[in-house]
Amino acid sequence: MFFKYLSVPARPDEDFFTYIFCRAEKDRFIMCGIVGYTGSRQAASVLFDALSSLEYRGYDSAGISLFTDAGIATIKSQGRLQNLVEKMQQAQPAAASCGIGHTRWATHGEPSDLNAHPHATEKLSLVHNGIIENYQQLRQKLTMQGYTFLSRTDTEVAAKLLDSLYEGDPIAAICKAQTLLEGSFAFAILFADQPQTVYAVRRGSPLIAAMGKQESFVASDVPAILPYTRDYILLEEGQVAAVSPGNVEIYNAEGEPVAFELHTATWSVEQAQKGGYDYFMRKEICEQPEALLHTIHPRIADGLPSFEQDGIPDAFWKGFNRISIVACGTAMHAGMVGRILIERLARIPVECDIASEFRYRNPILTKDTLVLLISQSGETADTLAALRLARQCGATTLAVVNVTGSSIAREADYVIHTYAGPEIAVASTKAYSVQLSVMYMVAFKLAVASGQLTADQCRTLTASLLQAVDATKQALALDAEIEGYVKRYKTLKDLFFLGRGLDYALSMEGSLKLKEISYIHCEAYAAGELKHGTISLITENVPVVAVATQQALLAKTVSNIKEVRSRGADVLLICKEGFDIDPEVYGKRLELPALDDLFMPLPGVVVLQLIAYHTAVLRGCDVDKPRNLAKSVTVE
Ligand code: G6P
Repeated sequence: MFFKYLSVPARPDEDFFTYIFCRAEKDRFIMCGIVGYTGSRQAASVLFDALSSLEYRGYDSAGISLFTDAGIATIKSQGRLQNLVEKMQQAQPAAASCGIGHTRWATHGEPSDLNAHPHATEKLSLVHNGIIENYQQLRQKLTMQGYTFLSRTDTEVAAKLLDSLYEGDPIAAICKAQTLLEGSFAFAILFADQPQTVYAVRRGSPLIAAMGKQESFVASDVPAILPYTRDYILLEEGQVAAVSPGNVEIYNAEGEPVAFELHTATWSVEQAQKGGYDYFMRKEICEQPEALLHTIHPRIADGLPSFEQDGIPDAFWKGFNRISIVACGTAMHAGMVGRILIERLARIPVECDIASEFRYRNPILTKDTLVLLISQSGETADTLAALRLARQCGATTLAVVNVTGSSIAREADYVIHTYAGPEIAVASTKAYSVQLSVMYMVAFKLAVASGQLTADQCRTLTASLLQAVDATKQALALDAEIEGYVKRYKTLKDLFFLGRGLDYALSMEGSLKLKEISYIHCEAYAAGELKHGTISLITENVPVVAVATQQALLAKTVSNIKEVRSRGADVLLICKEGFDIDPEVYGKRLELPALDDLFMPLPGVVVLQLIAYHTAVLRGCDVDKPRNLAKSVTVE
């Protein structure tokens, strides 16, 4: 009853690829989604709609507070939003047209009803996105003042701090609280004696305020408000918002009213919704050819890659003697491919590091090192910290990010934006493909700049990259075949991916996709390395997905496949069309279009994503929101 997507027609002037995914300066902590509503609609319905679009930010618990005639009613529940919906249906709170809501990714305190937001006192109720770093000290002080605490959260401390400071002037209390709080926060707050008004403040966490006709909102992100309005305000650091129906007032950190700029969202509700697909992940897998073209096309001039539109002149690519690629998760796997491409084409030494490791190994960085940071969200804490370290060391930093205005995009020396559009499923798919496309173009640029490629050779490769985009469409056509084949993985416990070179890098991504959404334990192994220990795990019950798309490595890879086949492994072979491979070595063969070896990861990843997707659906997993994960990890 509460889930009712209201749709608004897309604007004719809409330009999806210039969307701003609503991040203000130094937004670091994406965990949790917050929302506030005041207007003439049923607040519960609006809050649930908004929370469902923010659920990608965390789904350990959810809660809302409603301003009813009898005061503020708070209902919260551990787990998914659906649990809260059921609780609401039982509790039947009185009607309300003003309220706040929260969806949580647990940091301080385990996921539980008690630790769920909102946190309320007699005077107020509050939801929070961020981390209060000095909450222990504040908790001690407030305890001495007589406050008691029910939860283990930093947020309850913030609520009680605000309670202790509140003497009837919400703006003054919020401004005072800001001076005492360390860390990052976006709060939405209801004060019991201020009906129909939602207060909000941000420092370090994203927050927007928005106005519709006779209604107003605050939210962590634009998708939450899109069904109702497109006009929004990006709050600056320290700013406080007071929103009442149809009216927004903004104050600076000193409590003085300030003018604000109204932005208009340029992408549609449909783009942030499933559009007829069962899952966002499936939609996003299918969007890859289009996302690739949108990322590549604006960067081709005279048949050659050009990053002039990104403010990166051709001269930039000359003179680096080392390249360090740094990222996390799927983005790091795109970097693994990038490393091979750059070394192969440009003959420049490249390292590829997991960001959380890079920072602590005292990396050797000089002014001639290019540090290439890859991040879909542009907010991943470890990648951001690596970027800051690289800058401190005097290296040149270049970020590849999907979210305009994100912290990494703002702090890097140079930025290449990928145009995947909003990626909602926690498991990253189209963001990976577009990151790969940038890796190709960067490798081409570096190769021309270092004299390894002539302009004509580069043109040929650029044309091949566009053919590879077509090949991703052909890979999508394998969908039904893959769906049928993975039925055998329904009750599977373990699986291995094998590959060499680019196929190994690709296997790492295939393995991550499968394990994160289907909960099958799997590992990607360099095909030649398995025999040095891990092959002892191969039995009849442990299937293998063998990726063999590289002509130059084919004979060696096939030998490795034979090694597992002879130990009983059920082998799914993914290879290039026309490869002559003994049918004895595999149980099933999936063929990818015959591109130059270099470009096989693009169609290849589509097949691996579909394997993961169909396996997860078959096993009844929550494909878009796998357990324990969040889309963007902004804690170290
Ligand atoms: C999280 C997500 C992954 C993602 C990684 C890096 O772990 O669950 O899907 O690859 O963060 O995120 P980024 O936004 O930096 O690409």
